[in-house]
Amino acid sequence: MAESMKGMHRTHRCTELSVANVGEKVTVMGWVQKSRNKGGIIFVDLRDRSGILQIIFEGKDIDEAGFAKAEKLRSEYVIAVTGIVESRGGQVNENLATGAIEIRANDIRVLSESETPPFPIEENSKTKEELRLKYRYLDLRRPDIQKNLIMRSKVATLIRQFLSDEGFLEIETPILNKSTPEGARDYLVPSRVHPGEFYALPQSPQLFKQLLMVSGYDRYFQIAKCFRDEDLRADRQPEFTQVDMELSFVDVDDVIEVNERLLKKMFKETIGVEVSLPIQRMTYKEAMDRFGSDKPDTRFGMELTDVTGVVKGCGFGVFTGAIENGGSVRGINAKGCGQMPRKKIDALVNFAKDFGAKGLAYIQLQDDGNVKSSFAKFMTEDEMKALIDAMGGEKGDLLLFAADKNKVVFDVLGNLRLELAKQLDIIPKDKFNFLWVTEFPLFEWSEEENRYTAMHHPFTMPMEEDLDKLDTDPGSVRAKAYDIILNGNEIGGGSVRIHQDDIQEKMFEKLGFTKEEAYSQFGFLMTAFKYGVPPHAGLAYGFDRLIMLMAGVDSIREVIAFPKVKDASCLMCNAPSPVAKNQLEELGIELTEEAEEELSEGGAEESAE
Ligand code: AMO
Ligand code: AMP
Repeated sequence: MAESMKGMHRTHRCTELSVANVGEKVTVMGWVQKSRNKGGIIFVDLRDRSGILQIIFEGKDIDEAGFAKAEKLRSEYVIAVTGIVESRGGQVNENLATGAIEIRANDIRVLSESETPPFPIEENSKTKEELRLKYRYLDLRRPDIQKNLIMRSKVATLIRQFLSDEGFLEIETPILNKSTPEGARDYLVPSRVHPGEFYALPQSPQLFKQLLMVSGYDRYFQIAKCFRDEDLRADRQPEFTQVDMELSFVDVDDVIEVNERLLKKMFKETIGVEVSLPIQRMTYKEAMDRFGSDKPDTRFGMELTDVTGVVKGCGFGVFTGAIENGGSVRGINAKGCGQMPRKKIDALVNFAKDFGAKGLAYIQLQDDGNVKSSFAKFMTEDEMKALIDAMGGEKGDLLLFAADKNKVVFDVLGNLRLELAKQLDIIPKDKFNFLWVTEFPLFEWSEEENRYTAMHHPFTMPMEEDLDKLDTDPGSVRAKAYDIILNGNEIGGGSVRIHQDDIQEKMFEKLGFTKEEAYSQFGFLMTAFKYGVPPHAGLAYGFDRLIMLMAGVDSIREVIAFPKVKDASCLMCNAPSPVAKNQLEELGIELTEEAEEELSEGGAEESAE
């Protein structure tokens, strides 16, 4: 039976009470964590957002009806209790923040009863994620998730305060937008008023924040929801949050400077981590050459070595073939793995193949001086020695090589490096390594589309020194773009924008847009730029990723109140879901036969990652 709380007022949250309150009459409200009846004395752990507090019910302090209610309490009942704070004397519970006190109850109301929850509401729950997400409202009661969301709220407040102090204005931009073809796939929203026409949900506020600079707002920020219909992973959600900003009359260093101070404050005040400034910077080229990745985890070594020059004329066709095709041969030295069993090496080869490798050549420098290799038979002794020397190979090492186009070699070795580090457990967990990666290529060649696409987005400014190569060698033009990396995660990225219409037009031309196409997609921006546009630049953080790393968890689902799973569905509310025929009719939409069939089969499988 649910009672009303009429006339009762909560005086404290559970952990707001301490020995300083001993003797006071207080009222607390919350959920029953557990209740133990020790014959005549009932101990109840009461839980609210702040933590847990022990309540004692004894016949001498409370009337019979009250005691009877206490006897019936079960986990997750919602109760209100009035009583006197008393000291536990010598019996302090060190595990509880409130372990030195308890409340001796004089009055209780059962505000709501609870069925037995499908999993225990406790820290470090071993419950399967699918079940947790189905009952997310219960999962959210667990202290570890609460800690994450409380941290998220604190960081958001800190960011607002900091940016506002720095002269940024918080301005909202629209959610119902025009679809643009660059970037990830759009989420579309059909228009009822304009049948056959669609809005797109924003992938980021990019165009609007640039327009706000045109409008003279000088410094903008927004904690903005963004939507991207892409394949999901542990660090990707279909809807996610950016801390988005844009600044006028600035260049790369200005954006970096203000953001370094923001990061320093954020990490110091939230998790007590000292970020030493300035944060290290590394060009894209150096990051790729050394780590095979544009978001290198610099907490450990095992860097790549380019051995193209060393194996150029050797007898191993796999190596020389790759070089002749314009590729390279590079290796990593897995120190101390020289005795790795064949089976494990084969697993590494398969891992490499998942990233596009045709194979993975290896040399095992065994402890007894024996050298085992998958390609020694194609090489002379001198060639092998030169290769081992170039890799700094010593007894006990395992040398792994990939030979292919550079893109494949980097992808394979970059990922292999991370995989080996995980297997060898050599990544220091308590380190926070920040890194700016700069000078990204402006363009990326798309094999699928047989054209250049923008590596960041089409509004990114080329580096002035490379402007003359826009026509002659677009692939080599570097951009005024930067990413901020933390422990191998891209937590943010941005760029200086093009504010000159001739460069913007050239950019669209290189991306394969006709002038008409460019105007039909981005005309409002290009027209706006005709009316006086300040040089501007900006950056956006992936807020969920940032909080994930600050909270030390390994999925952004742990820091999002109501996340979606791998197939972009919500296991709790079952979105997306079919809609009524008349809703579709109103929108002028008819389902294809395939869609109808899929619907009648019950839709896509539900799954957590
Ligand atoms: P970008 O596309 O790099 O830049 O996005 C900025 C940051 O957002 C995060 N992020 C994601 N987080 C969770 N789920 C996703 N699906 C997802 N996609 C991206 C990443 C990324 O670094 N408008 C530009 C920024 C600018 O130029 O100012 C932009 O959106 O952490
Ligand atoms: P094969 O002669 O094809 O058996 O290859 C000999 C060794 O070279 C095997 O260990 C293969 O895994 C490896 N290998 C094949 N292709 C490549 C490549 N593209 N890069 C590096 N190693 C490769």
